[in-house]
Amino acid sequence: MKKLYLIGNMKMNMNYADLEPYFANLTQVAENTSNVVGVCVPSVYLDFAKYSLENSKVLFGAQNMYHEDKGAYTGEISAHMLNDFSCDLVILGHSERRNIFHESDEDINLKVKKALAEGLTPILCFGEVKEEREGGMAFSVVERQLMNGLNGLDTDEINRIIFAYEPVWAIGTGLSATPDQAEEMIAFTKRLLHENFECHDNIVLYGGSLKASNANEILSKPSIDGGLIGGACLKIDEFEQIINTKVDE
Ligand code: 13P
Repeated sequence: MKKLYLIGNMKMNMNYADLEPYFANLTQVAENTSNVVGVCVPSVYLDFAKYSLENSKVLFGAQNMYHEDKGAYTGEISAHMLNDFSCDLVILGHSERRNIFHESDEDINLKVKKALAEGLTPILCFGEVKEEREGGMAFSVVERQLMNGLNGLDTDEINRIIFAYEPVWAIGTGLSATPDQAEEMIAFTKRLLHENFECHDNIVLYGGSLKASNANEILSKPSIDGGLIGGACLKIDEFEQIINTKVDE
């Protein structure tokens, strides 16, 4: 069996009351699978996540951070703060951060470096928008995002990153990439990491309308190591079905 990484990205959803049963159920689900389970929660719930998940097999973390240690950065959260809550993971470079909040490849590169330096596991997201795919630019966009995002990092550091290919046109649209499209881009990503950084066996996830009904066909593709799951992670029953996906090596 392939060991899959199945990580939820709650985005700006859920509330305190919903999270109590959710964390209890997720702890149970993680006990009963050999897949790796994680969830990235809104930052205000990190304390609750730590309290609820610390002694479970569920990895947890944040959806963003800033690269500076401290100072006059109203509204921002540092890597030190995430470590105060024993976070394992931090999503960086999500397309919603890039497109709505105008984060550049260079901003994301600073954040990835800081997260690694502080012992956090970055989940580095990348992916093209619809017009870029339709214009035949998907591969060059992904290459640019990755090469800029990884600028200055060495092989060991890059091997500690979890990558997530999330084509923007598939996020929250119900229209996932086809298994072949996801496989093609993730295989390309692994080749790029190998050729430029001498990396082997990087973990690269797929994200974008991944749900119980398409998890098996997407996750059974040979280069795909798991999923970053938005909407479908909010319903614990559906997330459980995805987490219980079993595919051959
Ligand atoms: P959806 O699964 O809701 O399409 O979101 C994917 C995503 O952006 C995960 O980071």
